[in-house]
Amino acid sequence: MPGDTEKIIRLLDIKLDRLKTKKKSVEDLETQEGVLDKFTLETLYYLAKKKLLTEIYGVISAGKESNIYWAKNNDVDYAVKIYRTSTANFKAIQNYIKGDPRFKKIRRGIRPLIYTWALKEFKNLQRALSAGVRVPKPIAVKNNVLIMEFIGSNGKPAPLLRNAVLESPEKTYKIICDFIKKLYKKTELIHADLSEFNIMYPGEPVIIDMSQSVLTSHPLALDYLKRDIIVVSKFFRDLGVSVIDENDILNDITGGV
Ligand SMILES: Nc1ncnc2c1ncn2[C@@H]1O[C@H](COP(=O)(O)OP(=O)(O)OP(=O)(O)O)[C@@H](O)[C@H]1O
Ligand SMILES: [Mg+2]
Repeated sequence: MPGDTEKIIRLLDIKLDRLKTKKKSVEDLETQEGVLDKFTLETLYYLAKKKLLTEIYGVISAGKESNIYWAKNNDVDYAVKIYRTSTANFKAIQNYIKGDPRFKKIRRGIRPLIYTWALKEFKNLQRALSAGVRVPKPIAVKNNVLIMEFIGSNGKPAPLLRNAVLESPEKTYKIICDFIKKLYKKTELIHADLSEFNIMYPGEPVIIDMSQSVLTSHPLALDYLKRDIIVVSKFFRDLGVSVIDENDILNDITGGV
């Protein structure tokens, strides 16, 4: 967003007006912001009207598949994840959704697929939360926009596990192993991209980025679970923690299946 502290409603009012009348400004916006195309602006406008957002501040993270913004609803901080509809990896996304009984009918085209991808992250976060796993609390999802709890303070995101100074690496390792087990056993979920880059650390581990997370019925579920365990083990082994053998963890979680 141009300027750090512009009110979203005013901003969107102005931009939407322009979008309706001048085609050129759509292109301007797209190149400026990457993810803020006309549909996304309309979705943000809808969420603002629904009183779920009052302001949107700067970009916290600009990734290949999404941008994360620091936003507010009055005094409450939120993180807003906006999924790109343009450069998305169509095939990879389909492979993580295919066969999931929660998403049986998806309309053709990239947009409905990305909307499902955002909805999948929302539902996965809800499931994780219900299993007692610390994740950002999901607030709302509409089209390619997901609103969630802000992890950090005063608009400053907490560090990723990779950059965090850990009070006790042993304890953090145990908590994360417990999260993996709870996800699997209590809600039949596998993160499928777990690493020190997808765990934040505001003094305790918080797992993020769950759009690719799959149910245990996914054909590659066990491969993903194994990979998650291996990646986490390597990170903590390198920190000097005497980690449990990966196969033992896997057997403990799956009961040797
Ligand atoms: N709830 C949140 N609160 C604060 N910051 C967040 C939140 N969720 C994500 N972030 C920040 O945004 C970054 C990207 O988030 P996420 O991993 O969900 O998106 P991504 O599409 O995988 O992006 P990337 O391609 O960069 O990994 C995180 O590394 C983190 O720094
Ligand atoms: Mg990520």
